[in-house]
Amino acid sequence: MTVTEEINALKKEKDAVILAHYYANPEIQDIADYVGDSFYLSRTAVGLKNQTIVFCGVSFMGESAKILNPEKTVLMPDLSADCPMAHMADIETIRRMREQYEDLAVVCYINSTAELKQHSDVCVTSANAVKIVKALPNRNIFFIPDKNLARYVAEQVPEKHFIFHNGYCPVHEEMQLHELENAKAEHPDALVLSHPECSKAVLARSDYIGSTSGIIRYASENGHDEFIVCTETGVRWKLEKDNPGKRFYFTKTEPVCRDMKLNTLEKILHVLKTGENAVEVDAELARTSKKPLDRMLALAK
Ligand code: 13P
Ligand code: SF4
Repeated sequence: MTVTEEINALKKEKDAVILAHYYANPEIQDIADYVGDSFYLSRTAVGLKNQTIVFCGVSFMGESAKILNPEKTVLMPDLSADCPMAHMADIETIRRMREQYEDLAVVCYINSTAELKQHSDVCVTSANAVKIVKALPNRNIFFIPDKNLARYVAEQVPEKHFIFHNGYCPVHEEMQLHELENAKAEHPDALVLSHPECSKAVLARSDYIGSTSGIIRYASENGHDEFIVCTETGVRWKLEKDNPGKRFYFTKTEPVCRDMKLNTLEKILHVLKTGENAVEVDAELARTSKKPLDRMLALAK
């Protein structure tokens, strides 16, 4: 049997389902039951009937799936796959902001640990942040941790007062403007599609800004046939699969999230066989950090 055949057989035997983020390796997206952005994956995880979820993403994703489904087993192919941004905010700063501002909503990008979520009022992803911030009754918004997504949301919601944190995604932040300019010079007819985690300079040169699923949808629906994509290269698989006649370019230094790439078919097979790498969240932490996640799911409807 091939690795894929073994995985499929074990999935049936163990009543398991595979969820994968668009940044996972192509062969994983190919065999996954559900592939999507972080909002789609957390929403999907809630409605599943299967007892076991194999989550091919990074730790905040597996952790959120477990918090939202405490009765289920959530397995991660590699428990060390982590998102550095998830650790960039701190509880002490949240406490200080709450003392300083009345009417404060702490808006927590889902790319954060459960401990940070626990001290927040609502979670957001890049797919729903604008909608959710607009819907909040609060005027003062402390947006943690991503400064780039926060600035992008603040521009869309000028009626609110934003307090920014200084977190960032190293993969998106390190994309160089001169490399984007070179790609534009090489492909002058291409539209630039960017994730809001990119720097201000890159976003200023973009034709469309959105989550990974937003970028994929835009490329499919738009009449252009050439795009420069400013996000992690994992999205290429879906972009090319859905749009065989279109061309997708990345900056010369291709943005790669090494943590997402820690997920492999062999590791999926291993956790399905052994039940190792189950995500565990302390019961009280799970209960309190579920509230902002539930609020996100309700407000994003
Ligand atoms: P999406 O919410 O667009 O899936 O982005 C997740 C992420 O980690 C981006 O770096
Ligand atoms: Fe985190 Fe950036 Fe990787 Fe997304 S791409 S998981 S934000 S390090």
